[in-house]
Amino acid sequence: MSSQAKFKLGQKIGYGSFGHVFSATNIDTQEEVAIKVEAADAKVPQLHQEAKLYEIFHSNNSVPPVGIPKVKQFNTNAHYNILAMDLLGPSLGELFRMCDYQFSLKTVLMIADQLIARLEFIHNKGYLHRDIKPDNFVIGTGKQRNVLYIIDFGLSKRFMKGGWHVNYADGKKLVGTARYSSINTHKGIEQSRRDDLEALGYVLIYFIKGELPWQHMKTQDKLERHQIIGEAKERTSVAELCTDLPKAFSQYMEYVRGLDYYEKPDYQKLRSFFKDLFAERKYTEDFEFDWVIKERRKKINLFEILNATPETQTTNDNGLTISPKVDEQKDTSLAEKKSHIIKKLGSGVKTKAGYSIFSCFI
Ligand SMILES: Nc1ncnc2c1ncn2[C@@H]1O[C@H](COP(=O)(O)OP(=O)(O)O)[C@@H](O)[C@H]1O
Ligand SMILES: [Mg+2]
Repeated sequence: MSSQAKFKLGQKIGYGSFGHVFSATNIDTQEEVAIKVEAADAKVPQLHQEAKLYEIFHSNNSVPPVGIPKVKQFNTNAHYNILAMDLLGPSLGELFRMCDYQFSLKTVLMIADQLIARLEFIHNKGYLHRDIKPDNFVIGTGKQRNVLYIIDFGLSKRFMKGGWHVNYADGKKLVGTARYSSINTHKGIEQSRRDDLEALGYVLIYFIKGELPWQHMKTQDKLERHQIIGEAKERTSVAELCTDLPKAFSQYMEYVRGLDYYEKPDYQKLRSFFKDLFAERKYTEDFEFDWVIKERRKKINLFEILNATPETQTTNDNGLTISPKVDEQKDTSLAEKKSHIIKKLGSGVKTKAGYSIFSCFI
């Protein structure tokens, strides 16, 4: 049995390192979705595995998982692989930019609690994310607006097979995003649960401080840049990295940097560092994130800022780095954008309205 859905393509909403993401409407049900597209001849195709992972995350749970998008369809044609999924809101990267590169402590603590829980969930399913960064977390829409979703499993890897942890290995190339990679990832050690958590620590510190010490280290050569960023991380003690921050941040970093390769992290303990601080400051869990306050004050619509331009480059297992041409559409009108999209996705069927329509089969 196969079912078919046709999607009317909307605006481009995300520039990732490997795929392009559009909003789209199911022309039969009018349901809005997000469509992630990858060239069928991509050197390292990732989208099919991503679709499969979302299915795995949604199966065999006693209750539906929180903050994991659902796949609607996966389809492939001569030119493209196409993944239709829940349409979500802006990413933490976009929201951070909107908040002028500074989140309040309360916002960071509310984020931390949810993001540790997301990592715990996917780790318990036997998978690592391996590209933890602000652009790979998005907020939900409607009733799910307060929920942070984890997305982009293109670099994800299984670390538990048949109840056994994948063996320790080294000599690995850096996979992920150098700014947030763990020290051991820079050293070429196979990633495990600790590395996702260390990367999350850098993301949280970036949010609270507004920058990371190794952020502006740029060189022409990518490998050299990875190396100097790794060295800078090693030189920076936890105390130095967390200067002027409440002790929860250094407790978190000390704990994750101290984890063994095979060790199962104590996620509850990690959450409690931040929960205790939240209680100590007498904050209330009202989901008044900085972007919610800003949206209300400035009367802006968060969902209109959807047009992600990533800040960082991602590197995959083959050492491939794809720099998105972020400027290519920045100043073009919506109509131009759409025609650009249609050109790029030539395999869609052109209609009178000038939109591209995809047929997806599952
Ligand atoms: N389901 C979705 N709903 C809304 N925006 C999304 C969705 N999926 C991705 N995006 C946006 O598109 C960007 C790129 O998507 P992502 O899956 O991270 O691709 P890449 O592998 O190329 O980084 C994300 O950073 C996010 O801003
Ligand atoms: Mg991404």
